[in-house]
Amino acid sequence: MKLLVCGGAGFIGSAFVRVRLAAGDEVVVLDKLTYAGRRENLQDLEIEFVHGAIEDPDAVARAIAGCEAVVNFAAETHVDRSIAEPDAFVRTHAQGTYVLLEAVRSAGVRYVQVSTDEVYGSIEEGSFTESSPLAPSSPYSATKAGADLLVAGYVHTYGLEACICRGSNNYGPRQYPEKLIPLMILNALHGDPLPVYGDGKNVRNWIHAEDFARAIDTVLLKGTPGEVYNAGGPDELENLDVVTRILELTGQDESLIRYVTDRKGHDRRYSLSSDKVRSLGWEPNWLFAEGLPATVDWYRDNEWWWEPIRSGEYRQYYEQQYGLKLG
Ligand SMILES: NC(=O)c1ccc[n+]([C@@H]2O[C@H](COP(=O)([O-])OP(=O)(O)OC[C@H]3O[C@@H](n4cnc5c(N)ncnc54)[C@H](O)[C@@H]3O)[C@@H](O)[C@H]2O)c1
Repeated sequence: MKLLVCGGAGFIGSAFVRVRLAAGDEVVVLDKLTYAGRRENLQDLEIEFVHGAIEDPDAVARAIAGCEAVVNFAAETHVDRSIAEPDAFVRTHAQGTYVLLEAVRSAGVRYVQVSTDEVYGSIEEGSFTESSPLAPSSPYSATKAGADLLVAGYVHTYGLEACICRGSNNYGPRQYPEKLIPLMILNALHGDPLPVYGDGKNVRNWIHAEDFARAIDTVLLKGTPGEVYNAGGPDELENLDVVTRILELTGQDESLIRYVTDRKGHDRRYSLSSDKVRSLGWEPNWLFAEGLPATVDWYRDNEWWWEPIRSGEYRQYYEQQYGLKLG
């Protein structure tokens, strides 16, 4: 099939493009190339690239022509940036999703909205299911929840053939280093301090990006229109446990850990039940015990990918965010 992947130059979108190319699809990527979007993530892949924003109806019309389905990854994705500057989150998640839904409605094609466990908020015990209430706690998760509700409204009102797939915390190759795992790996490889929020005991449910990409693929091919599917990883860990494992894998010790002021409104624990997407035949391939060492190796071996980021705007962002210098 000919498929439009919005936000396909990002971390998970580019993993998904690889899955669909391997299945024989023709892929068009529409991406605004924000600081987090990179052509390098699609290097050596045969795709058609349209540089533009999902909130731009002309760019969307150019990209969607001839496509039989649309998968939307395009988003602002960093909670800390949403706390400092929420405007781009509202524009992309609200206006952008609206423009895409209108284009999908007039083209009459299938649609998958990529979403996050963060729309459910924090959970002390047990796991969220697809029928758990939405209780987002940051501008990031609130605008993602708004986009999900807009999709649901289009399904109900116009009979759009759309599904939503909500993932837990992703890790793996090509993740922008502002996120926990690549941040800690690159700092540890450089012998720089590792900033840990609060007491480090926040719990996250880790899924490898290849597994989340395969779950979205399953929903695209087999999901029932109007349904939501959660895709959580097989492991839950406290942030401090993740950091300690990275220190071990990089030959560093705990003297590099620096506790820093906690994120405002920091959710304590996320956890997703994935029974519904498993019933469609999906299951994760990666355990964290194998996925984390493979991810550390990828960053160690791919300095060409991260060096331009670490020496650019990111350095300024990092130093302002944590009050720490990068070496
Ligand atoms: N990273 C995670 O842990 C995680 C977990 C669950 C769900 N998600 C969701 O998965 C999706 C992808 O996340 P990611 O981690 O790959 O993010 P990312 O930040 O690496 O990539 C986002 C991509 O979207 C593009 N983009 C941003 N705004 C755009 C716009 N207005 N128009 C067109 N393109 C735009 C960026 O240039 C970039 O290529 C997001 O919707 C996110 O909410 C992420």
